Amino acid sequence: MILDVAIRGGTVVTAADTMRCDVGIKDGRIVLLAEDITEANEVIDAAGKYVLPGGIDAHVHISQPSGEGIVMADDFETGTRSAALGGTTTILPFCLQEKGRSMREVLKEYHAKAEGECHVDVSFHMIISDPTEQLLGQDLPALVADGYTSFKIFMTYDDLRLNDRQILDVMAVARDTGALVMVHAENYDAIRFLTEQMEASGRTAPKYHATSRPIPVEREATHRAISLAEIADTPLVIVHVSNREAMEQIRWAQNKGLNVIGETCTQYLVLTADDLDGLGMEGAKYVCSPPPRDRDSQKACWEGLKTGAFTLFSSDHCPYRYDETGKLTPEGKTSFRWVPNGIPGVGARLPILFSEGVVKGRITMETFVAVTATNPAKTYGLYPRKGTIAVGADADITLWDADKRISLTHNDLQDGCDYTPYEGMEITGWPVLTMVRGKVVAREGALVGTKGHGVYLPRELSAHTRALA
Ligand code: URP
Ligand code: ZN
Ligand code: ZN
Ligand code: ZN
Repeated sequence: MILDVAIRGGTVVTAADTMRCDVGIKDGRIVLLAEDITEANEVIDAAGKYVLPGGIDAHVHISQPSGEGIVMADDFETGTRSAALGGTTTILPFCLQEKGRSMREVLKEYHAKAEGECHVDVSFHMIISDPTEQLLGQDLPALVADGYTSFKIFMTYDDLRLNDRQILDVMAVARDTGALVMVHAENYDAIRFLTEQMEASGRTAPKYHATSRPIPVEREATHRAISLAEIADTPLVIVHVSNREAMEQIRWAQNKGLNVIGETCTQYLVLTADDLDGLGMEGAKYVCSPPPRDRDSQKACWEGLKTGAFTLFSSDHCPYRYDETGKLTPEGKTSFRWVPNGIPGVGARLPILFSEGVVKGRITMETFVAVTATNPAKTYGLYPRKGTIAVGADADITLWDADKRISLTHNDLQDGCDYTPYEGMEITGWPVLTMVRGKVVAREGALVGTKGHGVYLPRELSAHTRALA
């Protein structure tokens, strides 16, 4: 057999092993792993580079309707462009069901927005904001069967939050269908109480976003979500965990034998609440929920990644420009309450985790691959097609130059936003080539593919629910 592509001379890393090995690719898939592959139409020299499974960013927001006058800065073209340049080959954005709308209809719209626009592969989680009888009884089971096998629910935000009974009802559907529930765990009433206190005393600057959502707000909701999942008897993903106390709730649940999966994100490793305390509105660039915390929280998030309390590492890419369409609306300037929540990061996720994690000895190379690719694939029903380097898997591969140093600027990321919260960070290690299903889509900081190469991926059930369904 003549191979299409051979990646030669590199060091292959999976979640389990690091090995010197060539990779042979045919028809978009990995068909051969061997010491010395010579017969191929195209040879990619990977000497001195790591050969990694392409990153899977399982928590991304793109083209999501936001508040009045607010526009998300990325569409599927720009969002997947930044992903590709950052070494990520699959993203999982959210389809947001607005109240009163059919989920099927909403999904159709997201498909239409993504169709023909993507540089990397895409699959969708659903956000359930209106758990009607029709949705729970008919639509969700059918959608899960069609490959939409995960949904996110919110415990806060006026337009999104579900009460505990609604959460249990959604969890029951997950239990019965094998879908996986992801939860945004913050206590809605506590945030409202604190926000009103801040505003009443004139504390409206962006930095008060952090004080309006302190750690107990997240810890309480995390514990409650875990308890509800235990009662409904279903696995649960706690997304974007920001601090030690919330992490301890997850660890406690795991030690008890509950199937609770933790995710943390870039911002919780490298930002703190102090970043929200900039001149004028500068702090708005860091407004996301949960907010970045303090040094001990960062340390806890590293511990969580290292010890397995967190098996998922995502960007929670949620881009709003630092202008009047995003962070600087007239309302946002009157109070942190109206600043859209979310920060960009799909392109910076892998370099920051590698530089701060692997290079600084906080996590191993194998853990880096596990939390950025293999575990997301397993958790969200894409494994073993995605998330590893193995015979039969899609040839989604990132070549990593572990020595390359850059001082990060927004220009390096090429998303649709106009800033990066990580501006000026000194980074060691950078993706120099990204391949999606055997085709090089980015090389040395430039896109080389054509948009539309990325396809939609229906998903199997999660590895966490499959055995139960
Ligand atoms: O502030 C954040 N994280 N915005 C994105 C939406 C979400 O809650 O994940
Ligand atoms: Zn492309
Ligand atoms: Zn969230
Ligand atoms: Zn999010």
